Amino acid sequence: MSTELTWLGHASFSLLINHQTVLIDPYLDDSPTSPVKAGDVTADFILVSHGHFDHVTDVVPIAKRTGAMVVANHEICEWLKVQGIAEDKVSVLNPGGSEEFPFGRVKMTVAHHSSSMPDGSYGGVAGGFVLDLSAGRIYFAGDTGLFLDMKLIGIGGLDLAVLPIGDKFTMGPDDSLEAIKFLNPTRVIPCHYNTWPPIEQDVAGWADHVRSQTSAEPIALEPGGKFSL
Ligand code: NI
Ligand code: MN
Repeated sequence: MSTELTWLGHASFSLLINHQTVLIDPYLDDSPTSPVKAGDVTADFILVSHGHFDHVTDVVPIAKRTGAMVVANHEICEWLKVQGIAEDKVSVLNPGGSEEFPFGRVKMTVAHHSSSMPDGSYGGVAGGFVLDLSAGRIYFAGDTGLFLDMKLIGIGGLDLAVLPIGDKFTMGPDDSLEAIKFLNPTRVIPCHYNTWPPIEQDVAGWADHVRSQTSAEPIALEPGGKFSL
């Protein structure tokens, strides 16, 4: 079965996998670049990489409206329960751990980044996700700097890597080229850039460098743009 990925701007993605929708880090209502509002999306599962506002702000209202299962680290799941999300609608993963869901297997990876909730409470450690789907294996790095253990994440092959390239809060375009060399994915989609002036990047220039310096195919989407795996 195929997987259709839609970039919702910033680090937000929607995956349609065999009639199930998996949202990743939905940041929609306040995002300057989101093509949709939180009240308009569907979700069966929501994956949350860390506690920062630009990754969790819309999780609670979407989860309450849709009844979606939220997958996140222990501290974020505890915070979600305080916000009124039912105990059986959260599923804890911590780095290295994985779980089988109806749409595929999800493993949480490490990420080098901070993580606090919008109210200042502790958000656990930041993470990323590897999704093993029938259509292929996808790595969502989350917010992170470059790290050598990306070589481990690439073992077994990646059909797609989704990497931040905005710089300042995460790795920038140059470090993302090193990340691509470590991960060796077939394709790479950039995110976490052009949301606000501090993370504006020349994505066409980045794509040229990806083509000339790595073996990956760069796929630069517009917000609302889709890619099928
Ligand atoms: Ni962050
Ligand atoms: Mn972020």
